[in-house]
Amino acid sequence: MKHILSGHDINETDIKDIFQSADEFKKLLEEGKKIHGLLPGKTLATIFYDPSTRTRIGFESAMLKLGGSTVSIENARNSTDDLRGESLEDLIKTISTDVDVIAMRHPEPGSAVRASKVSHCPIINCSDGSNESPIQALQDMYTIQHRKPEAKVVMFVGDIIHNPVVSSFVHFAEIFDMHVIYTGAFSPQQLPPGRHTSISEANLGSYISQADVLYLLGNRLGGISKFKLTLDYLTAMKKDAIVMHPFPRGKELPIDIDLDYRAAYFEQARNGMFIRMAVLDHLLSK
Ligand code: CP
Repeated sequence: MKHILSGHDINETDIKDIFQSADEFKKLLEEGKKIHGLLPGKTLATIFYDPSTRTRIGFESAMLKLGGSTVSIENARNSTDDLRGESLEDLIKTISTDVDVIAMRHPEPGSAVRASKVSHCPIINCSDGSNESPIQALQDMYTIQHRKPEAKVVMFVGDIIHNPVVSSFVHFAEIFDMHVIYTGAFSPQQLPPGRHTSISEANLGSYISQADVLYLLGNRLGGISKFKLTLDYLTAMKKDAIVMHPFPRGKELPIDIDLDYRAAYFEQARNGMFIRMAVLDHLLSK
């Protein structure tokens, strides 16, 4: 049984397999074709202790498109720890015998690993606090490989510390030989020293012209980033760079940026469907 808890759990061969399946699902869906029962009789449980719109809906929709079914605890905090005193371990141990795969979001770093230790079915980590969010990072790398395959420099700006995307993305940046620039105190152990650069938001203007991908993150859990993508920054960026964002957006990404041809974040969000379908297929069909 394979879990996806971290970027570490997806190697180069897995990426190739998942991206190839995602391409096939993308083509079929864009041609309006149905995908006939790849996962009949399989059930996905989505267990979300923290709010989500795209990830939970996206996983449930992906499973339904593959011919499987879904069950959900949308606000797991209310039905478990807080009100009934049930531990995460008890919940997972008992529910995982009823379903085939669990997609889970939980506020505590390490919670996905804890769940995997007692689970009878694969766990997909849809973020464990600020620790990791491997499926989002996979969807991000898939978007880069489609929209800007020659990208070598990815710049993350915003509340890196509280956002789990960067920790997962650096695993894939290593595989795709990318350099990561980021604002703030973040130390990606996965990348060799020459392959990442920490800068301050005050110095962003001097570095932004190097980015092939500008990836913006909003503030979470009291983050204090003051960054906002302005016309001056857009002018300083490469003409063929792309702008990405995982949503939900905040003040860092004004809506008028949507009109700029470099905005790739709606495509990035759409790619989440193909990647989630490919991940479910990868875990359950093989
Ligand atoms: N990108 C993302 O994780 O969105 P949600 O929090 O809405 O799931």
